[in-house]
Amino acid sequence: MFDIETIRTDFPILDREIYGQKLIYLDNAATTQKPARVIAKIKEVYEMYNSNIHRSVSKLAATCTGEYENARKIVCEFINAKNTSEIVFTSGTTAAINLLAFAFGEKFVNSGDEIVVCESEHHSNIVPWQLMCERKNAVLKVLPFDDRGDLKTELLDELLTERTRLICVAQATNVLGTVNPLDLIVKKAHEKGVYVLVDGAQGIQHLKTDVTTSDFDFYVFSGHKIYAPTGIGILYGKENLLEQLPPWQGGGDMVKSVSFAKTRYSDLPLKFEAGTSNYVGAIALGEALSYLIYIGMENIHSYEKNLTDYALEKIPSVPGITIYGTSENKVGIASFLIEGIHHADMGEILDKMGIAVRTGRMCADPTVQHFDLTGLVRASWTFYNTKQEIDKLCEGIEKATKILKQD
Ligand code: ALA
Repeated sequence: MFDIETIRTDFPILDREIYGQKLIYLDNAATTQKPARVIAKIKEVYEMYNSNIHRSVSKLAATCTGEYENARKIVCEFINAKNTSEIVFTSGTTAAINLLAFAFGEKFVNSGDEIVVCESEHHSNIVPWQLMCERKNAVLKVLPFDDRGDLKTELLDELLTERTRLICVAQATNVLGTVNPLDLIVKKAHEKGVYVLVDGAQGIQHLKTDVTTSDFDFYVFSGHKIYAPTGIGILYGKENLLEQLPPWQGGGDMVKSVSFAKTRYSDLPLKFEAGTSNYVGAIALGEALSYLIYIGMENIHSYEKNLTDYALEKIPSVPGITIYGTSENKVGIASFLIEGIHHADMGEILDKMGIAVRTGRMCADPTVQHFDLTGLVRASWTFYNTKQEIDKLCEGIEKATKILKQD
């Protein structure tokens, strides 16, 4: 049932030309493109039932609230959470981690306690923890990765101590593409009573995600990396943990009643959804996930695996190329450099050929510093990309190299 040509027509932007060339979009780790039905859903909300949620009694408001809560249900089922009370809408992965860093820090972290993050995390899963550790006088410890991009999990026994409160780890990393061994990490952490936050920003769109069976304590992801709009994301937390956390932001919707004598907070999940939420984004996220369910996540996984196997064999054969991130277990990401060529120059020439990639430090300075580099070129693909596009990328890199080496 997985017909790539039909799937590509679902994404209007893929038909665009850039500098007279057919767009080859290989910057999916930065953000994904949107299917027509997600774009149509946003239009539907504004044209048919736009009204603030959880407030008015109008038919419009009831419809909009119903759609919003239905989206929460779709997310809940998509990641196999036990209850919709465990699904908090945020503005994205970054906001979800900042929320957690504040609330978890207030509840569970005391002076001298420890938080572990991985060296290969993106800034969103590092800086909020640095801020929290500073505030609570806690210690931030780092689990390093080896030169292939695999976490040195053999160090965990030593790194996790009786003072460790939380370990923060990506499902898949955004520069090296490594799929981290979460079963092992969760097991080792839980044996020592350490909670686990999994950052699904680069994982949920490519990997089977089941927060209940995997026993994640917290899980976060962004809508825009899974074919939904920007400005919407999810914080999942086990209900008994979210119950214990204090609110992060105060405002409307997160309160049952307000008085100067005593303010009572809403039950989960609204306790963490202060102010008018991005309900249009949430509804569109529900639509994006429904689209993926319609295509079939198993079909998507098997197509992507085939494409990734092809790409990770083909791209390293480009003359002069060095691939950074060579783990056995990767999502569709190849970060690379060509000897003697600056990453920004390569990215610019590829762009002129209609090939969109990302260059630079990829919001993950420690990963780039690990290899003693100033930046990389990153190609990242997903289920609407093709082997022909990977071939064009390889040809493009070779052509760009010739042009740049002439200068
Ligand atoms: N974190 C995003 C990336 O990897 C923006 O490009």
